Amino acid sequence: MDFERRLAEDRELVEHSLERYTRPHNGSCIQEDVFEAMRYSLLGGGKRLRAVLAMEFCHAFGKKRQDALPAACALEMVHAYSLIHDDLPCMDNDDLRRGKPTNHKVFGDALALLAGDGLLTLAFETLSGGEAQELLGASRCIELVRILSQAAGEYGMLGGQVADVQAGGGKMTREQHAEMVAMKTGALIRASVHCGCVAGDASAEETASALRYAEQIGTAFQITDDLLDVCGDPALMGKNTGSDARENKITFVTMLGFEQAKRQADLLFSQAQEEISALFGAESFLMDLTVWLAGRRQ
Ligand code: IPE
Ligand code: IPE
Ligand code: MG
Ligand code: MG
Ligand code: MG
Repeated sequence: MDFERRLAEDRELVEHSLERYTRPHNGSCIQEDVFEAMRYSLLGGGKRLRAVLAMEFCHAFGKKRQDALPAACALEMVHAYSLIHDDLPCMDNDDLRRGKPTNHKVFGDALALLAGDGLLTLAFETLSGGEAQELLGASRCIELVRILSQAAGEYGMLGGQVADVQAGGGKMTREQHAEMVAMKTGALIRASVHCGCVAGDASAEETASALRYAEQIGTAFQITDDLLDVCGDPALMGKNTGSDARENKITFVTMLGFEQAKRQADLLFSQAQEEISALFGAESFLMDLTVWLAGRRQ
């Protein structure tokens, strides 16, 4: 199957499950607005990179993509929560996300905050729920809960976001900046690959190699995000450009300059390709995905 079709199929699997996981249990209820706000940001948008990584690593290690589907959905829930909060006026203050007005623009700050909280909580219900346990067994599910909670928390995404909002306008060393990026963006991407390894029963050695790959694409992914904030096309990206400059953010562009940042991303993506090739040979979906990420405009 060609790359684009396979990617579309993965996305459809995720979309379908996310829709099911966020359906209110008994129709109308007094808190129904929070379901609407959660579904508004979660469904029908995004590249689904984290979900695709979890499912495709699971598959590449010889198991079914579907085995990693609850984990893939949990990862996308945590990611969508991080985006809702990231866009709030008290954080990056953005108006456009995934081609639509940001959550707080539609539902107000309070409901946006709560919709984010709802998605974070639902992620762990999903990872520890009956479906996940049936597919993977209780002990693997506990391992996944540990991986995702660590990646989302104060030593992971949340920790990186703290450093990001507190850095505004100030200075950072290269080491501090690298640490911030490894947490705010890298941790969830690393967790996605790690979940795929656990669901796919990868060996310790295979997992170590897969995690090196994850760290390389994690950093490179944020470099591309920072470059696109300067030179991207808002229509393709579904979010506005110029947000980092307006908010005085420290980014790879401010740290290294545009050209040097671009070269660093290229280097990391080519190292990531070598890692994937060592794991799965020269031709694989994950190789195509890595090439696609290196050239992304969205
Ligand atoms: C955006 O992530 C936030 C970052 C970590 C840079 P994505 O670019 O993966 O956003 P979606 O999921 O495709 O909307
Ligand atoms: C976001 O980084 C990292 C998150 C944890 C959400 P950015 O703030 O650069 O992401 P965008 O550009 O708003 O998507
Ligand atoms: Mg941000
Ligand atoms: Mg932002
Ligand atoms: Mg950005």
